[in-house]
Amino acid sequence: MTYKEELIKNANLMVAKGKGILAADESTPTCTKRFKSIGVDSTERTRNEYRDMLLTTPNMEDYISGVIFYDETLRQSTVKDNTPFTTHLLNKGIIPGIKVDIGAKVLSGHEDEKITEGLDNLRERLDDYYKMGARFAKWRAVITIGDEIPTQACYEANAHALARYASLCQEAGIVPIVEPEVLMDGSHTIDECFNVTFTALTEVFKQLDTQSVILEGIVLKPNMILSGNRCPVQAGVEEVAHRTIECLKSTVPSTVPGIAFLSGGQSNKDATAHLNIMNSKYSDDLKWNLTYSYGRALQQSALNIWLGKTENVPAAQDAFFHRAKLNGLASKGKYSESME
Ligand code: 13P
Repeated sequence: MTYKEELIKNANLMVAKGKGILAADESTPTCTKRFKSIGVDSTERTRNEYRDMLLTTPNMEDYISGVIFYDETLRQSTVKDNTPFTTHLLNKGIIPGIKVDIGAKVLSGHEDEKITEGLDNLRERLDDYYKMGARFAKWRAVITIGDEIPTQACYEANAHALARYASLCQEAGIVPIVEPEVLMDGSHTIDECFNVTFTALTEVFKQLDTQSVILEGIVLKPNMILSGNRCPVQAGVEEVAHRTIECLKSTVPSTVPGIAFLSGGQSNKDATAHLNIMNSKYSDDLKWNLTYSYGRALQQSALNIWLGKTENVPAAQDAFFHRAKLNGLASKGKYSESME
């Protein structure tokens, strides 16, 4: 199989109907923040134990197509029998992926905006990751809505970096998850979120085209169109679904195989309900599969039960499995609130 054929095959597997992607790629500082919230020390060992809890959840492959790792985790192994996590996942038919950006830094000349870094040596790093079993990667661009922002500089710089990253990934046989995240933090309206996301996605697809990225071999990971979390008027589930579909239909080419949303700080239930309505109401009319690539919305309940204790592992795994199952059903439009 050529790299191109492999890319297209894997991109389609990542967004297969009824399944989605677990984002377990929290950097060490982010993981430390999450552990602090439950009173657990963040060490290489506790982070390994936490990821082991998630990844050894029985039957998770029914609803999880891929897992995004952080560099440290990609090199770790199961607690019980020291099987590398990548091998463990591949044995279950789950595709391992890797976060390759090195974080969002201040955009020079634009102190309230961010640019994601990590292009230096990316070609060599991707070759190593491919050898280690990774078949997809992730790069997250961060776009903030506020007074006079985002600027054109922010849209362009981030879209350009995403496209350069995506092109390097495909050269290495790795499917790029292209993630331009418009943050829900702020007092903006849903209309402002729509307009900013529309502009961001338009710029991203322009830059992907310029860099000759094969759209059949990417997965888009966007935010949903939401009211800012401090906006006094909060759009309901129907409106979020409708505006999100409207925005994607006007920006995302039909050759993209699938769209896997980030949860972005939505509650577990909202993230599931929004995805469900999009699929139950609009999927007949859509060119791409719509699924999830959630971090917090898949992990939060399990994290709160786990608390760093071995005896809590089965209950934490049940909680993770439950969220994965509900989101799997939502990706087919078959979820209902009574399943909560
Ligand atoms: P959340 O679903 O917690 O937003 O995380 C998804 C992700 O990968 C952000 O980059």
